[in-house]
Amino acid sequence: MDATLIDAVSKVDTAFKFIFGVSFVILFLITAVTLYFLFRYSKKRNPVPAQIEGNLVAEIIWIVVPCIIVGAMFWYGWVGYKALREAPANSYEVKCTARMWSWKFEYPNGKTSDKLYVPADTPIKVDLTSVDVIHSFYVAAFRVKMDTVPGMHTYVWFNSGEPAEYEIQCAEYCGVRHAYMLSKVVVVPKEEFDKWLNASAAAEVPDEGEELLKKHGCFDCHTTDGTDLVGPSFKGIYGRDTVVVENGKEKTVKADDMYLEKSITQPAADIVKGYEDMMPPFELTKEELGKIIGYFKGGGKPTAKLGAKGAEIAEREGCTGCHSVDGSELVGPSFKGLMDRKTAVTKDGKKMEVTANVEYIISSIKHPSEYVVEGYEPSMPEYGQLSDDDIKALIEYISTLK
Ligand code: CUA
Repeated sequence: MDATLIDAVSKVDTAFKFIFGVSFVILFLITAVTLYFLFRYSKKRNPVPAQIEGNLVAEIIWIVVPCIIVGAMFWYGWVGYKALREAPANSYEVKCTARMWSWKFEYPNGKTSDKLYVPADTPIKVDLTSVDVIHSFYVAAFRVKMDTVPGMHTYVWFNSGEPAEYEIQCAEYCGVRHAYMLSKVVVVPKEEFDKWLNASAAAEVPDEGEELLKKHGCFDCHTTDGTDLVGPSFKGIYGRDTVVVENGKEKTVKADDMYLEKSITQPAADIVKGYEDMMPPFELTKEELGKIIGYFKGGGKPTAKLGAKGAEIAEREGCTGCHSVDGSELVGPSFKGLMDRKTAVTKDGKKMEVTANVEYIISSIKHPSEYVVEGYEPSMPEYGQLSDDDIKALIEYISTLK
């Protein structure tokens, strides 16, 4: 590692230790001298006070010594400040946009995330701005703290060092959810970072069907690559013509929804030819079965989940900073069950009840002040920058949160 890269942290620490050390010594000296003088020059011991005209030597000392100390403090502070401000020219640049109450990071290829992913052992420059009020980007581990100001760009830089995770906090009071405006710097090995950077967003969203199959241990017996283990492979299973043995007789069936559901809940009913009757029945809800069959329909590969894109937008645009997805109330109403909910609102000073249909939700995103939901403050900014596609994806996502 380039030795100059770790310097910002060590220089800030040196300045801190120097100032703290000097302060501690001075505090100790002043306290000791005060106590000594209280004792030594008390009225009891010195009934007649001495008249002192002046002492040139003492005056020179108390001017020169503090000047040297303060000068040294300035020097260490200046060196640390310079190290913090001089981002190496080869820094990897990430854009950071702060908003009430979340962070969004954008990488050179346009990918965005709500955590700051960076490659290890690389100088990282974070370009900071805000879309609403002043926030402050603070990563104690890298000794960086910088205001993010609407309409203006500021920056911090740090050397990412070894793979690890560090806390990001907002260090400027910015409203009710300020304390929750948290994120992480995730330092990953370079190759892993490149892989992450170039992976499409859809692939990152785990398929719920696949998750269920994993949870129930299905992959112990069924592969997704076409090889046969104890049971037939899931690869291309949906709609496949399958020879089954029922009561000793062979017949060919199509692996449709009904067949697949039955194979999961009553596996002994139709045994696929060439396999043993050894799978236990799984008790799953209709919804779970639907998710698993959805996964099979995708050819045994993860399918983009309905609303996955909207979920990503909700994270990226900071919607989830104020609107929960689990029914809990933050600054704004929860997204859970929002679709078609009867909602008491105030419009132009008049109270009324509306149904949160698609038009209402679009209007609430584009012109949030038009309808103010009862019990909430009109604090949401307008999201005019969202494209119609983005809004559509968001609504699709909201409609999945029942
Ligand atoms: Cu953002 Cu405090």
